Formats: sequence, C-alpha cells, structure tokens
Amino acid sequence: MNVLTYRDLLRIRTQLDAPTRTATFSQRIWGEREANVDGLQYRHVLTPTDREVTVRDYSGETRAMRMFGSNNYLGLATHPVVVERVQKAIAEYGVGVGGPPALNGHGPLQRELQERLAALEGQEAALLYGTGYSANVGLMSALPSKKDFAVYDAHSHASFIDGMRLGRVEGKAFAHNDPAALDRALAEVRGDYRDVFVSVEGVYSMTGDVARLDRIAEACVRHDALLIVDDAHGTGVTGPNGHGTVAMFDVAKEVDVIVGTFSKTFAVSGGFIAASREIVEYLRYFSRAHVFSASLSTAVCAAVLAGLDVMEDEPELHGRLMDHAATFAERLQALGFEASGLTPIFSLPAPAGADVRAMAHAFHERGLFVNHVEAPVVPASEQRFRISLSALHTDEDLEEVLAAIEEIWEAFTPADTPQAKADTPTLDAFEGGF
Ligand SMILES: Cc1ncc(COP(=O)(O)O)c(C=O)c1O
Repeated sequence: MNVLTYRDLLRIRTQLDAPTRTATFSQRIWGEREANVDGLQYRHVLTPTDREVTVRDYSGETRAMRMFGSNNYLGLATHPVVVERVQKAIAEYGVGVGGPPALNGHGPLQRELQERLAALEGQEAALLYGTGYSANVGLMSALPSKKDFAVYDAHSHASFIDGMRLGRVEGKAFAHNDPAALDRALAEVRGDYRDVFVSVEGVYSMTGDVARLDRIAEACVRHDALLIVDDAHGTGVTGPNGHGTVAMFDVAKEVDVIVGTFSKTFAVSGGFIAASREIVEYLRYFSRAHVFSASLSTAVCAAVLAGLDVMEDEPELHGRLMDHAATFAERLQALGFEASGLTPIFSLPAPAGADVRAMAHAFHERGLFVNHVEAPVVPASEQRFRISLSALHTDEDLEEVLAAIEEIWEAFTPADTPQAKADTPTLDAFEGGF
C-alpha cells in the first residue's frame, strides 16, 4: 500500500486545509494499520503496568511482554500500599473536588501533598498542576515579563518551549548540558535584560544524562540569574534515596524553581512547582494553568502521598533500581555503548543506515517492550532506542534485554556502514522529547 510518510506530511501539511490535512494523516495511519507495518505506537496494554504486561498488538493477538518502556522506576504503579491507600482515600473523600481550587476549594490531601512536595524539594512551598506539562506552561507564561530573557538547555522539554511561546518570552538555547556554553550565553545577554531565567532538566528524558547542576548553579549565582530545574525524571531516581537531582548536588538554596511531575516515578498524572513562598503565592493567582484548571483528583493525591511514604519506608527499591542501572551500564559499555549508569534511562543510538522500525519490531517479536524514536521526530542521525529499568526487574530480565540488544545490533548494523543520512527536519509537534 502506497501511503504518505511523515516526511511527506511535513512537507505538504501547511498547504492543505484542515479537513484534507486530517483526512490525509488518518489515511496514512489506517493504511499502516491495515498493512500491519506499524502498530508499535499506542500499543494496547491490557494489564497493569508491571514487570510484565499483556499487550494486544498489531496482529490482533495478545502477548506477554517484559516492560522496558515505562517510567515506573520504583514499581509504584502496582505497589500494594499505593493501591490500598488510593482505595481508602476514595472511600473517605470521594473521587475529587469537582473544580479549580480558587473556586471549589481543595481538600486535606491536596494540602498535605503540597507540604510534602515542598519538603521533598527543600523549598518553602509547592503548588499543584493538572500535569507536568501544564506546570511548565503555567510557570513560563506567568513568571517572566517582557523585560526578561530565558536561557535554556537545547534538549528542553516541549512544555517549557510552549510555555515560553505562550508567555512571549524571549530566549535562546545553550548547548546541551554544557555549563561553559551557559556561562557564555549569560555573559552575552545578562546586561540587556531585567531578569534572566535559566532552565535545565535534572535528568534528560531521552538521553538519561544528569544535569551538571553544581556548575550550572554556580554560573547562575555569578550572573545573578534565576535557576529553574525540571526534575520530571529525577524524582525517585537521582539523589539520596531518590530525593532528586537538586538533592544530589545539594543546591536547593541556589535553585529558584523546581518543576515536577507525577507521571514518571509516581505512575499517575499531575505536576507541581516547588519554590519560595513568594513565588508560589504569585503563581497561585497569576499562573492561568493553575487558576483555570481543576484540583488534582483524590486518587492522584493519595497515590503520590503513598508513593512518597513507600520511598521512605522501602529504600531498598531505590537501591535495587540503582544497582540495576550500574550493572546495565557496565554491560552496555562492554558492548560498545556509552552509558553512565547514573540513571535507569538508557538511550541507544541506532546504527547509521539501519532500519529502525525493523529493529523495533525485532524487540517486539522477542516480547520486549522498548521505545524507539525515529525520524522525523528526531533527525535521522539521532534515531534511538530508549530502555527504562525498574526496581521490579530481575537480573534475568536485564540479561534477556542485553542479549536481544547484542543480537539485534549485530543483525541490523549495515556491513558497509554508510555515512549517516543527512538530517531531516524535526517534526515540531514532537520537539522537546517526551
Ligand atoms: C522533562 C519533562 N518535563 C515535563 C514533562 C511533562 O510531564 P507530564 O507527563 O506530567 O505532563 C515531561 C514528560 O514527558 C518531561 O520529561
């Protein structure tokens, strides 16, 4: 079946009216489904997110798969304490508040959660948002003014970029995780603006590397810039007992705003901002993504509160996760990959010229649920696989996926490795990682 590729769509989409554009796009998706050539996005997972899941895939059959594609780092998605506390909370408080906090109030769980998050992050106060995405959008559209500027890591999440766009914040990216580049950017712009906001992520979601927060914080202090750290993937992972990347570098006093999400380690949805009392009170009234959006539901608050308790009561979960990360990194290095082992996120670049989608199918056929990112979501030279480990995995699980990596790379690396293809444009709808 001759169907349009994403690249074709990128080229022509602005020339088509909305009905034609949507119809063309849908036909492509349906075409692929009929031809059974895709089907690895939006896999239909029929069981709870656990070490093993049951998936109904493109063949229409169900199959058991080992889960290496979730951010359920500590296994909280199915932890019995979390499940029980959610059930009890719903019995006591019902499912939710039924509106935004400014109009409908918020309950004891929402309040307690804000206090617990502020304490976790070493900040004075915290504010809840419907998602991590809206926390970033709500922050950047409210805090900087027209006289301010943002300097942000080149790998920043789409939600930060979208927040800047909404707030019409002027800004520029600095080279990924390069404190010297940040320093140069700050020296260049600092004198021309009233406040300069620097934004980095604690752990980068697609590459798994950890921000050099010590040097970044030092540059911000030197240039009198405000520092924002989005630690979406750091909570539960980095720092002592998973207290996050700011704790890892002991820089809570140098950081002005911490953004977090409940969609990774806590395996639910929702987000927050932790900062000084002044910043939080300001955002409570001026951050439209908070003001005009409903309070978090009871289930979410109870799940995160229980998750925080599990983190404290069962430190062995974090210990196992980090042991797995260290072992896996060592084994990957022996296979020729770069891996730090500082986080459980492993980013494996596809060999130049390899058929990434065929490689993804090879993992799938082995019953291994991993994520792949292909062009044009990223440039062709940066296509990759992302493997996330969890405290739920066993040593045997790690061996299984390592054996698959070795075999798949051997089978799919072109014998006469051609030069990486010229970069394709990125699809801006997906820009900024996941
Ligand atoms: C760094 C970063 N910030 C923000 C988000 C958005 O979080 P949420 O899924 O809660 O909207 C993500 C999730 O992909 C992320 O990786």
